[in-house]
Amino acid sequence: MAEKALEVYTRGTEAWFPDEQEGWIMGKLVSKSVEGDNVKMSFHIDANGKDVTYESTLPKLAANKFADLPPLQNPPALDGIDDLAMLSYLHEPAVLHNIRLRYAQENIYTYSGIVLIAMNPFAKVPIYGSDIMREYSGKRRDELEPHLFAVAEEAYRSMIEDKKNQSIIVSGESGAGKTQSARYIMRYFATVESGNATTAGVSEVEQAVLATNPIMEAFGNSKTTRNDNSSRFGKYMEILFSTPTPQNPSVRITGAKIRTYLLERSRLIFQPATERNYHIFYQLCAGAPAAERKDLGLGSWDSFFYLNQGGTGTIPGVDDAADFVETSKALSDVGISLQTQWSIFKICAALLHIGNIKIEAKRDEAQIPDNDAAFAMATQLLGVDEKEFKKWITKKQITTRSEKIVTNLNQYQATIGRDSVAKFIYSMLFDWLVKVINTNLSREEVLATQRFIGVLDIYGFEHFKKNSFEQFCINYANEKLQQEFNAHVFKLEQEEYIAEKINWSFIDFNDNQPCIDLIEGKLGILDLLDEESRLPSGADASLITKLYQRFGTAQQKFFEKPRFGQSAFTIKHYATDVTYDIDGFIEKNKDTVSDEQMAVLNASEFEFLKEVIKIEEEPKLEVTSPPRPGRAGGSSLKKPTLGTIFKASLVKLMDTIRQTEVHYIRCIKPNMAKAAFQFEPQMVLQQLRACGVLETIRISCAGYPSRATFADFADRYYLLVPSKSWVPDPKNLTVSIVNKVISEEDKYQMGLTKVFFRAGQLAYLEKLRSERQRACVILIQKNVRRAVYRRRYLRMRAAAITIQTAVRGWLARKLYKGLRETHAAIIIQRNVRTWLSRKRYQRLRDAVVKIQSTYRMAVAKAQAQALRRLNAAIKIQKTYRGYRTRKWYKQTKKRLVLVQACVRRRQAIKELKVLKAEARSVGKLKETNYKLEGKVVELSQALAAKNEENARILEKIASLEEQVKSWREKYEKAETTGKSAAAQLNEGSAELKQELQALKQENQGVSKENEKLTGMLKKRDDQIAKLEESLSAHKEEVNKLKEGARNAAKHEDPEVVSALKKEVATLRDQMARLLAGKYRADRVADAMLASVTSPTSDHPTPRVNGAISPPFALSTETSRTSVTAQIEMDMAAAAAKARPRRHSFVEGAPPPTSPGAERAAPVAARKNRTSIMIDTSLGANGIAGPPSAGAGLVLQTERSVRVLEDKALEEEIIDALVTNLRIPLPSTQTVATRKEIFFPAHLIGSTMVQLLRHDLAGRMLGLMTNVMKAIQSLTMKFEDDYVSAFWLSNCYELLCVVRTTQEKERAARRTGGPDAGEAERSLEKVRNDLDYLLIEIYHGWIKELKKRLANMIVPAVIENQSLPGYICKQSGGLWGKWGKSSSSSQFTIEQLLNFLSKLSKTMRCYYMEDSMTRQILTELLRVIGVSAFNHLLMRKNFCTWKRGVQIQYNVSRLEEWCTSHGIAEATLHLQQLLQAAKLLTLNKTSPQDIETIFDVCFLLNPTQIKKLLSLYYAADFDSPLSPELLKIVASRAVLNEKSDVLLLDLEQSPDFAKPSPRVVETIERFVPAWMSLPNVAVVVGAN
Ligand SMILES: Nc1ncnc2c1ncn2[C@@H]1O[C@H](COP(=O)(O)OP(=O)(O)O)[C@@H](O)[C@H]1O
Ligand SMILES: [Mg+2]
Repeated sequence: MAEKALEVYTRGTEAWFPDEQEGWIMGKLVSKSVEGDNVKMSFHIDANGKDVTYESTLPKLAANKFADLPPLQNPPALDGIDDLAMLSYLHEPAVLHNIRLRYAQENIYTYSGIVLIAMNPFAKVPIYGSDIMREYSGKRRDELEPHLFAVAEEAYRSMIEDKKNQSIIVSGESGAGKTQSARYIMRYFATVESGNATTAGVSEVEQAVLATNPIMEAFGNSKTTRNDNSSRFGKYMEILFSTPTPQNPSVRITGAKIRTYLLERSRLIFQPATERNYHIFYQLCAGAPAAERKDLGLGSWDSFFYLNQGGTGTIPGVDDAADFVETSKALSDVGISLQTQWSIFKICAALLHIGNIKIEAKRDEAQIPDNDAAFAMATQLLGVDEKEFKKWITKKQITTRSEKIVTNLNQYQATIGRDSVAKFIYSMLFDWLVKVINTNLSREEVLATQRFIGVLDIYGFEHFKKNSFEQFCINYANEKLQQEFNAHVFKLEQEEYIAEKINWSFIDFNDNQPCIDLIEGKLGILDLLDEESRLPSGADASLITKLYQRFGTAQQKFFEKPRFGQSAFTIKHYATDVTYDIDGFIEKNKDTVSDEQMAVLNASEFEFLKEVIKIEEEPKLEVTSPPRPGRAGGSSLKKPTLGTIFKASLVKLMDTIRQTEVHYIRCIKPNMAKAAFQFEPQMVLQQLRACGVLETIRISCAGYPSRATFADFADRYYLLVPSKSWVPDPKNLTVSIVNKVISEEDKYQMGLTKVFFRAGQLAYLEKLRSERQRACVILIQKNVRRAVYRRRYLRMRAAAITIQTAVRGWLARKLYKGLRETHAAIIIQRNVRTWLSRKRYQRLRDAVVKIQSTYRMAVAKAQAQALRRLNAAIKIQKTYRGYRTRKWYKQTKKRLVLVQACVRRRQAIKELKVLKAEARSVGKLKETNYKLEGKVVELSQALAAKNEENARILEKIASLEEQVKSWREKYEKAETTGKSAAAQLNEGSAELKQELQALKQENQGVSKENEKLTGMLKKRDDQIAKLEESLSAHKEEVNKLKEGARNAAKHEDPEVVSALKKEVATLRDQMARLLAGKYRADRVADAMLASVTSPTSDHPTPRVNGAISPPFALSTETSRTSVTAQIEMDMAAAAAKARPRRHSFVEGAPPPTSPGAERAAPVAARKNRTSIMIDTSLGANGIAGPPSAGAGLVLQTERSVRVLEDKALEEEIIDALVTNLRIPLPSTQTVATRKEIFFPAHLIGSTMVQLLRHDLAGRMLGLMTNVMKAIQSLTMKFEDDYVSAFWLSNCYELLCVVRTTQEKERAARRTGGPDAGEAERSLEKVRNDLDYLLIEIYHGWIKELKKRLANMIVPAVIENQSLPGYICKQSGGLWGKWGKSSSSSQFTIEQLLNFLSKLSKTMRCYYMEDSMTRQILTELLRVIGVSAFNHLLMRKNFCTWKRGVQIQYNVSRLEEWCTSHGIAEATLHLQQLLQAAKLLTLNKTSPQDIETIFDVCFLLNPTQIKKLLSLYYAADFDSPLSPELLKIVASRAVLNEKSDVLLLDLEQSPDFAKPSPRVVETIERFVPAWMSLPNVAVVVGAN
């Protein structure tokens, strides 16, 4: 449960929050969190940019059944719906929002179930015209937009059909528009049945009934701060209707009966600032003629104390003087003589003077000065005794048990006494007026059998800062009315549930019985009040204590003692709590004058005053509450108190209402400032609460407020279940849908024909439905897109592959070619390089070898030389060294020897010495000898080693020489091998070159061959093409030849024909263009064009040239004026006699043949066939024979004269030629010739001529008059179009004959013939009568045709849906709660066109004058266009885009018909309808679009456009019109307010332009073979 209730709150969900200013303001859910038991939701309010957070806990929510959650906004489909009961979420904000939206769209009326809520527009709205009344007449309530008239119509129809009295309760606060609405309702009743909105259509009685309004308003209305024309009394007006009889099925107003409630008496003596007294006083002051003004002592309004307290004496826009004239006229209308009127005014003047009576204080006593002019004037006017009057104003008498005591009053008391006299007289006067009106308006005392519709215009619930006795009474009345209303609603709900056998019980129905008991019950407030009022010492203070004592207990829930003060009490009314101030309760309740004052008044010499105050007894006696036992005595007991009277009258009223069927209208005042289309939400909310609309909503919400028939339901929601559960039976389908979608059993109930839902379920279903639709749309879109993209993809892929293959082929080929080229290049390169390197190598090797050998040779040479040099060097060295060594040796040896010798000498000396000494020592000498011997050995060894080395060097030289020798050999060998290798290389490259050459050559050969072959192929193709061409050329030639052969016989006829056709077409074109251009021209131009466009007619009318108006038109104009004068005279005469005009001619005419005789006539005709043959042949002879044929002729002339004088001729003509004529029916096979059609006219014409010829003008006139009467009575039956068409044609023909004869007659006189004055005069008279007859037949027939067409137009043009793709469901909206599905006859556009075609054919067959045919058809098309347009403008829930398309199609069919039947000008009458239909199909999203709409629909005025746009109903997936756009449109509409009318005028048909009679060349004497006209034949044949 918790989940379910919270589930609907998803992101983006819109809900309402209370707001100081706006009442309720809408927020969008931004986030939601449910944690444990805590629920938190935050909303963003777009309007003021604030955020609201909603917090609660689950248990808390569950305790209140989730009623505390923010109320949800309804689905957009329900925005601006015209019945609040159809809202899915039914709560205060939804109701307010919807009403507000509608009001912004200037839809002031809205249904709320059975109630009509009327918002006061405070501006002129063009929806009350007679055309609108006509639209609402006979329509069901749910068929058109909500309207007062719909409610009135419903009451009216139920009164006739259910034979039950009706009441319409209009309530609302002051200035909400109650009186205005009641007035419109009365106007509707007075107007609607007469079928004609002009005053002429309103009968005298109706006039009188309507006249009650100005009277009651003059005496009972005044200017208050809330309303310039505020009714200061309640009114229940029973409008009496005649009972329908079979002779007179229409029901018309026959009278009225008024009951009034609670006239505000205190206003007479006191008015708050800026308010006024009752209008009548100001009217009297402003409008009374000078003499009366003087008599009554009247002056300007500000000279009277009773009028100048408010400080305002005039109302802007109201002319009191003019109103005085109107009031006076209205008084006359209801049958009050002028004399009585002046008596009334006299009393009024007297009251004003009473107000001016000065009461002075003399000590403690009141005194009226002796010379007070006002006093004198007042007593004089009232005719009362001055002294007595003065006495009983300043004194009072107290009656005790034993005696009467007279005491003086003080100034204050006396003033009250004076005022109460005035109040008393005025209220008596008011009651007297009501009584007189009642007796005058319901004179026929057959009231019991008469039905009535009662209109209650009563103040709604009132609640001010300070509320007194009046408010108490008013609210008490409203409390009663509310109870009745609740019971009524409750009963209706219950009835439906029972009828549908639904299982249900109302939980708590807010009954206000306890509150009513508190007021009117036994020992209730009223009883206590009365009791207190009866006590001589009664006072407000003691009353309030009694009230506190009695009701101040805890059990009494509807009474409350205020916290502070002791002078007020609070009652908890159904609407709100109201605190009443006890001040003045007793005084107001007593409301009486003292017995003494009464006696003075009763003793007046002014009889009228006595009459006025006398009547008091009668009505009040009957309403006096049952006499209370044991409370006799005391003067005040005699008169019932105001409270008692009011209670009694209320009880009576409730009884009356209970016996009638009730309709409710709740008027709402949308703003305080009385500003046009301003909406103050808080104020409206308060009134909605007070008028009980919200209460009824609560009642219906307790049950199952949303309901739909199975068929409707299944039709809308079938898509919520899979297609396999789509069964044809709507009930089963509904069951399966509901079972699937709604899980809780309690949320719905299945009735017998309907399914019922709890509040909110519909919105849930709507949501599902739109989600489902969205899903389906997405699915379809997805698949379509997939298919589209896949196809595109496949195509692209194929293309890509093609391109790829081509590109790749090209690339591969390119690559291959490159590869091949590279390969070839490499081969070439390789070879070239081989060759080059080999060449270089060889050169190199050669060089190397040469260098090597050279080098080696050089080296070897050098080596050898070196060796030789070495050897030589060595030899030299050896020699030199030998020499040197030897030399060195010899030297050294010499030196050595020298040295030695020296040394030795020295040594020897020394030795000698030593030896000498030694000669002593011989050893020393021997040692030195030894050493020298060693040295010689060493030197010989060194010499030997040197020799050995020499030998080794020689050996080495020898081996080197050998090595050089082997190198030289090797070189020579290498040279030889290199030479041989080079030779080999050269041989190999030559071979490769040869191979390449060969391949190239081959390739070239192949490509050349290929080229040759393709060339050959091309040549072949060319040849084939050429051959084919020549073949076809041959064929053509043959054909041409053949055709030529065929055409040779026919010459150029077809060409001529086609040229002619073209010419015709262009002419038609021109015509059409002319017609189009004509549109804006005025009527004169119209007439001119009409004559231009009929050049093909048999009898061309004079051509129109330039701006000169056609003589033809002029002549018709003049002739018509005379004709109309004639008609008027005749009509006046006829009207004086009886209503149906056609009887007017009958008197004095021979009594019409009895039906038996009529039937016998054709039989007789058949029997006489043989004689006919003879007669006709005779007639034929007579015709054939020349005028002077001999004796036979004389005989015949005599015979014809006899016949002419015989009455039988006339009878024969009337009987056979008119009354019982068998009209030749148009048949498809044979077309009757002119002769066969016009024979009656011609025969009558020639009889007439004969009569004239025999100077029988008087007889002629008589004959013709009777013939015309016969024709009239025949044609006025309108049984058959044939009859009308036939006689219309024949009358015209006869007119032409008459005119021709007249001309001849005139010519004859001019040429000196006998004075034919009488003949001419009678001819003139015949001609005038014929003119009149022609017009009468024409108008009668047209009227008849229109009647027949009437119920065909709407189904055929508006409802007919012939374009298969654009079908909409019959009912717009979700469905009508109270609606029955429409069962109107289904005419199609085809049937309508058939009707027209048949009519057109009939007229053609009877050779009707072209201009007449044209006028008839054009008029019918005008009626079609206008009625269809008007209907479209009033139709609710209908104007969708698809309908626009359908209607455009239907209109285009009509236009087609018109052009194909040569009346293109008639299509102009369809243009408005066409533009309206176009408007529906145009875009309506931006201000630009609105511009476009205004451009396209240039024929529609802004009011009509506004209406259409506000009617525009957005179907699924179409966005509804934004209020901003409507505002733009509304602003444009206001600019032209004055000239704008909403509906087109249906009645304003153009006058019949009678074609001027043409000249008839010869008067045919043709008698059809099947006719028997012996006398006529004689007469005619005698010519
Ligand atoms: N249907 C209406 N169209 C235009 N103005 C209206 C309409 N109803 C009421 N008014 C305006 O409101 C004013 C008060 O209407 P009225 O019927 O006298 O209110 P109530 O009788 O409820 O006090 C009228 O004078 C008129 O200007
Ligand atoms: Mg009023």
